[in-house]
Amino acid sequence: MPGIAVIGLQWGDEAKGKLVDRLTEGQEMVVRYQGGANAGHTVVVNGKTYKLHLIPSGILNPAVTNIVSAGVVLDPATILREIEGLRLQGIDVQGRLWLSDRAHVVFPWHIAEDRLWNEMVAGADNLGTTLRGIGPCYRDKVGRSFAIRLGDLLQPNLRERIGEIVQFKLASFRGFQPSFPIEMDVDAIHAQYRDYAEQLRNMVTDTTAILLDAVGRDARVLFEGAQGSLLDIDYGTFPFVTSSNSSGVGITAGAGVPPHFVQKIIGVIKAYSTRVGGGPFPSELQDSIGEQIRQRGKEYGTTTGRPRRCGWFDAVAVRYAARLSGVSCLAMTMLDVLSGLEEIRVCVGYEIGGRRVDSFSAQVQDLAAARPIYESLPGFDQDLTGCRCAEELPAAARRYLERIAELVGAPIELISVGPDRQQTIVAPEFQLA
Ligand code: IMP
Repeated sequence: MPGIAVIGLQWGDEAKGKLVDRLTEGQEMVVRYQGGANAGHTVVVNGKTYKLHLIPSGILNPAVTNIVSAGVVLDPATILREIEGLRLQGIDVQGRLWLSDRAHVVFPWHIAEDRLWNEMVAGADNLGTTLRGIGPCYRDKVGRSFAIRLGDLLQPNLRERIGEIVQFKLASFRGFQPSFPIEMDVDAIHAQYRDYAEQLRNMVTDTTAILLDAVGRDARVLFEGAQGSLLDIDYGTFPFVTSSNSSGVGITAGAGVPPHFVQKIIGVIKAYSTRVGGGPFPSELQDSIGEQIRQRGKEYGTTTGRPRRCGWFDAVAVRYAARLSGVSCLAMTMLDVLSGLEEIRVCVGYEIGGRRVDSFSAQVQDLAAARPIYESLPGFDQDLTGCRCAEELPAAARRYLERIAELVGAPIELISVGPDRQQTIVAPEFQLA
């Protein structure tokens, strides 16, 4: 059986967690391979809500082994809180959750640096990060000199390493902003991270070896993407992106598996668009329809609580993301949220500088100047949350799905009409393998 992946094709928050949970049936492993605690995956099982940031959504299925691989930046405090939260909800992760000793660790200086830049860069240039230290941790990973990996936390030189890094970080923060309120006590950080390491000790291992073994056995492995393809560090709306390869191109690097192993990529799309933080968003709605979508879709960040910017489905952006990520099929989520709209629009092109453009530009300036060209489709009134097969959907909803599939260039084989596992329509042609 090949590896499969579930990735977002927009700017994140496509409700991937729910789908991953739904698709874990029959999988041996679920792998989180990029990003960090900036992600927020909400899964509802039997009316119980679980919010996950770092732990793969497969944890809710007792038969599944869960891996946080080398490409993730891991905040030990967050994952320990998450483990405890799951324990209180009756889920034991022992023996089912493995963390890569190669994963880079988020330290207080990363979070401070995220805050510092967020305060220093004002207005439209502000990236609006989740303030979880993600960019600074990846920056140190690439820079190498000040990076600490999970496997390093139990090494005898940890205090020395922390001491050197704190000295450099304090000097650079104060150089940029002398009044920046920051204290970093080397002994306290060292003691804290040693304690985290002890608590995580039984879970930290060489997950690359586990995964390569799984590849050798042709085991069933699901790769769970975080964020969305349009936030990809190389192919997204740079610089308004996250710091990892969140499109399909990031799977093999982040997980450490050979490319041929990932044979099916499911691209998740929300029935409309949302974005949190700064950056261009050509089909954004700043009117009562946008507000209606925000309220009905509860479009507030799982990680930060920030209201999400809402807009019409952007077929130009998603077609680009689908081609980039090489998706085999699409899963549309939140279709129920569009009920009650008289008309539904889809962005089918942009007008930039008086010219029609049908491609997604690498230049953020072009996207910021783009005026959406819309196609209008009839809306629908019916409540979709009880629909369990495509035939039960109103004709206008089916028409919408058909048109999106046509514009994006891939079939829609899964449709989500509510947060629960059961509220999912699976097309007869859908196959995991
Ligand atoms: P960072 O990943 O915290 O550095 O944030 C960079 C950008 O990515 C900001 O616009 C964030 O709002 C966005 N972002 C990061 N993680 C997520 C996510 O899981 N969902 C949606 N947006 C995200």
